[in-house]
Amino acid sequence: MSMPFKGLSFGLGFAATLLICLISRPALSETTPPDFKVAFIGDLGVGSKSKKVLKLIRDEKAQLILHQGDFDYRNNPAAWETMVDSILGSDFPYIASAGNHDAQDWFPANGFRDRLNQRAARVAGMSCTGDHGVKVCVYKGMMFVTSGVGSIGRSNLTYLQGVLQQSDPFVWKVCSWHKQQKSYQVGGKSTAVPWDFYRACREHGAIVAQGHEHNYSRTYTMSNFEQHQVHHRSNNLLVGAGLSLAFTQGLGGESLRGQDLCLRKGECPYWASIYTSTQNAEPSVLFCSFHVDGQENKARCYLKNIKNAIIDDFTITSENGPFAPSAKKIAKKLERPTTLSFPTEMSTMDDLWITKEDLKECE
Ligand SMILES: [Fe+2]
Repeated sequence: MSMPFKGLSFGLGFAATLLICLISRPALSETTPPDFKVAFIGDLGVGSKSKKVLKLIRDEKAQLILHQGDFDYRNNPAAWETMVDSILGSDFPYIASAGNHDAQDWFPANGFRDRLNQRAARVAGMSCTGDHGVKVCVYKGMMFVTSGVGSIGRSNLTYLQGVLQQSDPFVWKVCSWHKQQKSYQVGGKSTAVPWDFYRACREHGAIVAQGHEHNYSRTYTMSNFEQHQVHHRSNNLLVGAGLSLAFTQGLGGESLRGQDLCLRKGECPYWASIYTSTQNAEPSVLFCSFHVDGQENKARCYLKNIKNAIIDDFTITSENGPFAPSAKKIAKKLERPTTLSFPTEMSTMDDLWITKEDLKECE
């Protein structure tokens, strides 16, 4: 059984978190603007390739980074933020989940949590509740649930499920965490995220964004993650009640790793795209533009590497919220509310403790 490694001084922080939760209500009535582009990255680092990745995000005119954990790898949150600020500016919208390499520097003063909170406060229209690691942010009409599952926190599932139960009005929702199930990456990572997390996100039509393994793999539309059940094998994907997709995107620039799983033809038919050092991968960013072609419920995504090659290309149609087939006749009843009451018990004492097990896993 794991013992607490160190009791991070959480008393005031916990009270502050609860206060924030009680007074901060996301503004939810906004519609996602046309061509709203999100850059998905994981496992960034602070080296020359990491900087090229951020420059690609700048050059592609992305409007938000969603970072699936593992920031600087050097226990130096300031180095990460200085790098981001120098390329994208200090008020560039940035939402993140904690990775295993971030756990030690997450909660202390001037750590990742503080810096991400301060950054979110500088972004007009970004509303977040909860604590980073177990948090939900609403921005540009989209819902982003960032979980620390597998890296920090012990009560992540309760919060995730509570938030998703109130997500019905949203057209676009993303579940973001760092680690994953072994079969939802193609490298050497072992299982660290229970199926309950995947199930909750899929049932609510939320895209599953992951990092940790330093390569890329992306599924078709899945009707059951645990059973590896593909809904339809097409690069025009669907999200909606019971339907989702998952990807691992750890090509942020820290390093590149090869393909160890699913090497035999037809072995893992749920994968639509695999890009690893086995395929001579370069550091890359997954870009998704939401509300394209005049359709709020359509997104166009592409994986682009730092040499400007397009590696993966797909669309997603959302059947969430007012676009649910069964909801078309009652669309008006699904208008996004102006306030939501998210659960306020997301930060228990356990959530603010990290263990030796969290810290010893480095790769
Ligand atoms: Fe990791």
